[in-house]
Amino acid sequence: MQKKLLITGGAGFIGSHVVRLFVQKYPDYHIINLDALTYAGNLENLKDIEHAPNYTFVKADITDAEAMSELFATYTFDGIIHLAAESHVDRSITDPNAFIQTNVMGTANLLSAAKTTWKNNYEGKRFYHVSTDEVYGSLGATGFFLETTPYDPQSPYSASKAASDHLVRAYGNTYHIPFVITNCSNNYGPNQFPEKLLPLFINNIRNNKPLPVYGDGKYTRDWLYVIDHARAIDMVYHNGKNGETYNIGGFNEWQNIELIKLLCVKMDEKLGRDAGTSAKLITYVKDRPGHDRRYAIDANKIKNELSWTPSVTFEEGLSRTIDWYLANQQWLDHVTSGDYQKYYNTQYAHS
Ligand code: NAD
Ligand code: DAU
Repeated sequence: MQKKLLITGGAGFIGSHVVRLFVQKYPDYHIINLDALTYAGNLENLKDIEHAPNYTFVKADITDAEAMSELFATYTFDGIIHLAAESHVDRSITDPNAFIQTNVMGTANLLSAAKTTWKNNYEGKRFYHVSTDEVYGSLGATGFFLETTPYDPQSPYSASKAASDHLVRAYGNTYHIPFVITNCSNNYGPNQFPEKLLPLFINNIRNNKPLPVYGDGKYTRDWLYVIDHARAIDMVYHNGKNGETYNIGGFNEWQNIELIKLLCVKMDEKLGRDAGTSAKLITYVKDRPGHDRRYAIDANKIKNELSWTPSVTFEEGLSRTIDWYLANQQWLDHVTSGDYQKYYNTQYAHS
């Protein structure tokens, strides 16, 4: 019998790569992609697989508890990979409530629908929550986040993700829902909405606009190519132990300003501009309030237990990423203008 797998947030950045991987790798699974198509969700990301026989798109909002119950009753999913979220820290600072609604209440609705539908028959079932390293808070100059590091979220975004992680564990502990959680570092790659650092800066360089570096630029992040995150999700979904948490990271720390300087060099090369042209766009601006100084993941558990390691070097991933944005300027123009909504309306006009 065909397995029915719900992937939430599948029209977003990471979700679209996860949906594509599962649709192509597992033809015997029926992949149901649920997405509300907020500003960050874009069906253009999945044009290449939208007609695959094992793929269904459902436009729905996870904050709608009734809609979630009905969807679960219709499909009785075998598993859920839950990525749908408000995901941008800066937006969480201006509008925290949207994050509480989607990330906390939305996750609670999915857990409740799973519990009701599975009715204590958890054989072969799994609830997988895709979370972030930001739940652990901010590190000083040394040390790494381990799976056992106490939660210490500092932004409304990370607090909402921490709350949803806690809810997933509580449903596991109280109702025995089989779950797994992963906490991943900063992703980069094709299809990322150009409000996050790398796509924003690539787009700005392309348009000769200033590159707004927050504060002193000495904030540190660990960067992972999105395809390697999708591979890790595949491995954890299939082979991770119930009730466990796995940290995922790129073993690849960069201070923002060093990363930005490298990006400028690469962009000059790719655009055929004189060396130093893009770096002139670097502009220091007011810092993000409550800005976490450093994130660094210890990803040895997933490496040792599931034999996952990143497959794409940072040099290769960055080069592929820049090439993708330069080759897909129409995609960038669509998502920045909202034109992709027209695509959706035409595509689903009769559904
Ligand atoms: P994204 O913002 O690109 O995509 C989020 C998707 O969720 C969009 O398609 C959006 O339409 C959908 N969505 C939002 N609210 C919804 C709602 N109420 N109902 C249904 N769908 C809704 O995010 P992303 O960067 O792809 O992140 C995906 C997940 O991975 C998130 O849970 C995020 O916390 C987590 N994560 C992201 C990163 C990263 O670097 N981007 C790192 C670690 C973890
Ligand atoms: O660590 C995982 C997290 O990474 C994910 O959970 C989030 O969903 C994802 O958005 C990302 O969060 P960050 O806040 O780290 O990503 P962002 O791209 O917004 O910023 C990366 C760093 O660059 C951060 O230190 C802030 C800085 N920055 C960002 C922007 C957008 C700037 O200096 N200027 C900018 O304009």
